[in-house]
Amino acid sequence: MSITYNQSNRVFTLQTKSSTYQMKISEHGHLLHLYYGKSILDADVSYLIPNVIRSHESNPAEAGEDRVYSLCAYPQEFSSNDVGDYRVPSIELVNFDGSYAFVGKYHSHKIVHGKYQLSALPTLFAGANEKADTLEIVLEDEITHVSVKLLYGVFEGKDIITRAVILCNGSQGELRLQRLMSASIDFMTDGFDMIDLFGHHYFERQTDRRPLSHGINEIGSFRGASGHFHNPFAILCDRKTDEDQGNAYGFALMYSGNFVFDAEVDGYSQTRVAMGIHPKQFEFRLAKGECFEAPEVVLSYSANGLSKLSHNFHDIFRENACESRFVHEERPILLNSWEPFRFTFDSEQLIKTAKLSQKLGADMFVLDDGWFGTRNDETSGLGDWVANAQKLPEGIPAFAEKIHSMGMKFGLWFEPEMVNEDSDLYRAHPDWCLRIPGRAPSRSRHQLCLDLSRPDVCDYLMKAVNSVLDSGGVDYVKWDYNRYVCDVYSQYYPADRQGEIYHRYMLGLYRLLDGIIKTHPDILFEGCSGGGGRFDGAMLTYFPQIWCSDNTDAPSRLTIQYGTSFAYPVCTMGAHVSVCPNKKTKRTVPWETRAVTAMHGTFGYELDPAKMSEQEIAACAEYTAFYKKHRELIANGDYYRLSSPYDDSIFTAWQFVSKDKSESLVFAVTQDISILDQNCYIHLRGLESDHFYRIKQTGRTLSGAALAHIGILLPHTRPQYSAFVFELKKIERE
Ligand code: DGJ
Repeated sequence: MSITYNQSNRVFTLQTKSSTYQMKISEHGHLLHLYYGKSILDADVSYLIPNVIRSHESNPAEAGEDRVYSLCAYPQEFSSNDVGDYRVPSIELVNFDGSYAFVGKYHSHKIVHGKYQLSALPTLFAGANEKADTLEIVLEDEITHVSVKLLYGVFEGKDIITRAVILCNGSQGELRLQRLMSASIDFMTDGFDMIDLFGHHYFERQTDRRPLSHGINEIGSFRGASGHFHNPFAILCDRKTDEDQGNAYGFALMYSGNFVFDAEVDGYSQTRVAMGIHPKQFEFRLAKGECFEAPEVVLSYSANGLSKLSHNFHDIFRENACESRFVHEERPILLNSWEPFRFTFDSEQLIKTAKLSQKLGADMFVLDDGWFGTRNDETSGLGDWVANAQKLPEGIPAFAEKIHSMGMKFGLWFEPEMVNEDSDLYRAHPDWCLRIPGRAPSRSRHQLCLDLSRPDVCDYLMKAVNSVLDSGGVDYVKWDYNRYVCDVYSQYYPADRQGEIYHRYMLGLYRLLDGIIKTHPDILFEGCSGGGGRFDGAMLTYFPQIWCSDNTDAPSRLTIQYGTSFAYPVCTMGAHVSVCPNKKTKRTVPWETRAVTAMHGTFGYELDPAKMSEQEIAACAEYTAFYKKHRELIANGDYYRLSSPYDDSIFTAWQFVSKDKSESLVFAVTQDISILDQNCYIHLRGLESDHFYRIKQTGRTLSGAALAHIGILLPHTRPQYSAFVFELKKIERE
């Protein structure tokens, strides 16, 4: 069993392949966090809590004259509130009697085989033959009888521990829950760097690395979506940790709405991490007997640097997040209509485009925005999911049939959560969107956000989208979401429940996704949010792939995809080849570089092949064929960041290595051409040092050790933004 409880010293130990997580019930019933890190054999490491009096700290009444026992100096597993722990709390609430206190004391626990699930929030699942165990620990406040059930899922073989919390109101009256962190961990030390992913539209998931300072270091989102600006993922690592060595801890929240990640370094140089739903404008009223689920956090620890940490997250997100059959199938190479046509097209033109796209090697045509209602620009039609009579007079099923008759699959765009005021849906139900009574709502991209906290709105949307999908012909859906919410007020709920709306929206969204996606197992769904504005673990439980960014400029994609790779596997990143000069950055780079960069994901095209020369079409057909040949390795191999696009380096390189280490693929794109004559080597990783690999492009055979320590020499002729590809195969040396 990966979970043990030692009755004599009251220690819980969670054990994965290479990490240990330990907690202890103290003499007064508080659950102390003892350790998370490299595998240790020790049974009880509570000696690490110093036996010192911290002056000015309060001591709980039950500690009597013991001045050492203090909740603020002791590492807590789920911290209390208003009883002397002044660090960022796990919980904030107002009890029925107006008090703010919560003190969780050990009540009971249970260890069971299999992985827990939550009732209304997405979680990871264990594979059919995979070993996973669950620990449930109930902490109860002995005065109010409010309790929290702490859930731990242990994926022993994957070095992953998940956590979630269910709070139940066992008190005599209604409580107001104002903060409930899904996980918090107290480290007894400081000296961490924090790595997080920030950005904006067209610039998603850039990496930031900084030493934690004393006080609260915080990232989060308050936009109603996980967002472009910060991703619900963060790493704490030692100052010297790099790709190959050093301690690194990863935290990923399985939630697509408002979130917070706090790393607080206190005056004793202890570090507390807390992650969960953002407490701003959050207040859930729970009647006596009601419970509240906080979303899951995925934790992983690596003693061997950032690559290993990323591999742990890649493996779990690839295999344990999404149940769609498409996760493990070869994804279609798609051509998407958005960049070439936007809102202006007709059926005949689209059919011609689809036909030509076959020459590029595409096997699916995706009709993006503009196919429905009166949608001829951003200002109208959103919400009316019926085919536009002028552009598609034959309707969706007949149009899809024309695409199918060419031997291609057909995909369609939706943005179900939104509405234009100029739409039949809005005219019929103006009260169905988020807006504050008496205030004109703020528009964004000329649209309003539907109120998914309302069950009637979700039911309507489920029917509207399902009726298009059930009429047949659709093999793929791109689910978009193009604005953040504000004016967060639901006309469905009373004034004193408006603090629940942000979260109720997410519950509605997950119910809607369940009702559409899980009832259409033969349709591939791709997530999207103005590019990659909702790229998170929860979305990956629905979408095997997510459009990474609206920025399709290859050099820009180098940093976006590099950052995304810290948490999410390459097989989840939508990446397409588009025209140059690039529509956003106006930059021109060679076709090969655009193709190589789009191979860092689920490959496709976003252009009009009618505007390409015969040579360009032929070249793209070769890139598609190359991708098809290697897509299994790209999707399922171990991924290595060989160099950072942020360094002043001549090139950015990345590598895929098959799990059995028999094959590898290396890509490089040159950036800095100011250093022309310097020798430049790409050092490979992840190969077997005492085996030999033949490099197709150079004809050489080298040992894994030589490839790692000496590397592959890049040609000296390397114009800016040129691409290099190396295919390696393990061979028995003659
Ligand atoms: C934003 C998406 O990221 C684009 O790919 C495209 O689908 C547009 N929305 C359509 O409005």
